[in-house]
Amino acid sequence: MQTDSSFTFVLFGGTGDLSMRKILPALYEAHRAGGMLADSGKIVAVARHLADRAAYVDWVNEHVKPHVSKNGVDETAWASFLDRIEFVKIDLGNPEDFTLLRDALSGRPGIRVFYLATGPSLFVPICRALASVGLNENSRIVLEKPLGYDLKSSNAINDAVGEIFAEEQIYRIDHYLGKEPVQNLLALRFGNVLFEPLWRREWVESIQITIAEELGVEARGDFYDNTGALRDMVQNHLLQLLSIVAMEPPHSMDSDSVRDEKLRVLRALKPIDPRDIGKVAVRGQYHAGVIRGSAVPAYATEPGVKQDSNTETFVAVKVEIENWRWAGVPFFLRTGKRLADRVAEIVVNFRAVPHSALGASALRGGANRLVIRLQPNETIRLYCLAKQPGEGMNLASVHLDLAFDRFFREGQMEAYQRLLLDVINGRLALFVRRDEQEAAWRWVEPILNEWAAANKPPKPYAAGTWGPAAASAMLAQHGTCWLEEEN
Ligand code: BG6
Repeated sequence: MQTDSSFTFVLFGGTGDLSMRKILPALYEAHRAGGMLADSGKIVAVARHLADRAAYVDWVNEHVKPHVSKNGVDETAWASFLDRIEFVKIDLGNPEDFTLLRDALSGRPGIRVFYLATGPSLFVPICRALASVGLNENSRIVLEKPLGYDLKSSNAINDAVGEIFAEEQIYRIDHYLGKEPVQNLLALRFGNVLFEPLWRREWVESIQITIAEELGVEARGDFYDNTGALRDMVQNHLLQLLSIVAMEPPHSMDSDSVRDEKLRVLRALKPIDPRDIGKVAVRGQYHAGVIRGSAVPAYATEPGVKQDSNTETFVAVKVEIENWRWAGVPFFLRTGKRLADRVAEIVVNFRAVPHSALGASALRGGANRLVIRLQPNETIRLYCLAKQPGEGMNLASVHLDLAFDRFFREGQMEAYQRLLLDVINGRLALFVRRDEQEAAWRWVEPILNEWAAANKPPKPYAAGTWGPAAASAMLAQHGTCWLEEEN
């Protein structure tokens, strides 16, 4: 990927956690790889509590460097990366300070990217201050999640930002869409004849999408306690993954063709009847437990969390899509903190053969299954039955492995790196359009409302397990189980 388009990447929240762990390391990787960022491209960090560029570079050396490159830092590349960095000291509470930014940016070539790695309460004030000094022209704005707390607050942000920036200037990040296997799922589905004919209710029995984390709420107890897993992971990441899995083939890969198809899926989600919530959605909260041999505390004792908190750290939900392709096929979505393993995967369970001349094992559902592992170890595996060697006809499960690192030794890219390059190069396909976001909120809101009205504690689960037993019972009602429960 070569580029000669110049840019200025303005990073609000330049000393925040996201800048430190994700954004600056991703920009460094793009810089180190060479040919991805125009030589003249600059990064302008905006922060309040550091004095000047020298202080910011010290901060970057101390805090960002440990997060770059698993294979160690290339010191020459690191030094030239630092040369790209500039700094403007701005108090975001003081809109007049934005004239400093305008002056710092004046006369620069190329596109301006404003990355708001700040809390959502600052999105609108920052956009207004940018407009007040004319910086909303020839620019793109990147908004991080959470974009609001519910449909109303998300609409309020989108309305206010939309008065200043056109929709084509707004890049709403969902970093799951930047993960390589998600891209590969599109390649697999729409680049091959093999899967598409089977990708429908006649051949698919059920689909599971899991994002399981071992981590707890870390230093974000306060934020998380007001958010919960449904808002933090389901409304965005899980529904986005679902829309990619279930969408119709787009006319082209241009941004609106892809996003139109995803939107159709989100609009076709079967609304959840509040009376059925107990049957189709499970919420849990972790108690003390053990993860990889170490004791971990209960959620309610984490810093920033209310002791009597009813916030869910686990959600499992059954989703149905009301269209011709997917009618009647359950999609089981699940996410949780402090679970038994860190794994994100999509599991497509195909139906059993209609008649087996080869014995009962061929009649078992799940014999044919596609497992798309997003992390760790990105792979796609196609499971099928094969004959065991030797006498008789005994079938056993085997899989075809699409291990990307074996086929493509170079060029792997982290999600943030891909997405930041897309912003700089004006590619919107992997960013969430406003109508998609609204449709996702519309679907989750009845669940949120019902849970709030019921005011019941979530089901407890011990840290280091796979969540409340009710999540397994939900699948058992459909004659299936989560992947890790097989055998
Ligand atoms: C974020 C959530 O969007 O995604 C976090 O706010 C979560 O709570 C994170 O830990 C998971 O992302 P990843 O890429 O580490 O799986």
